[in-house]
Amino acid sequence: MEAATANNVPHIEGECGGCLSCATCHVFVDPQWFEKTGEIDDIEDTMLEMTDVEREDNSRLSCQIVASQALDGLILYVPEPE
Ligand code: FES
Repeated sequence: MEAATANNVPHIEGECGGCLSCATCHVFVDPQWFEKTGEIDDIEDTMLEMTDVEREDNSRLSCQIVASQALDGLILYVPEPE
């Protein structure tokens, strides 16, 4: 989320600054990368039901993905609101 907002990626707002209360940082993770992005905790799971674009199996809130060398090359897709 921080990388996206710093680079003005459209549709990634990050309104809550990453404290899991807005769901404006929703992304779809490339399936080959999904497991590497870590576990979805209960709060994120609940917030993923409140996204503008409907949740899919590979949805994450990008503020909960911790950048690391292991994620070098991570592919994320930004949902397009209708
Ligand atoms: S920035 Fe608000 S939930 Fe991710």
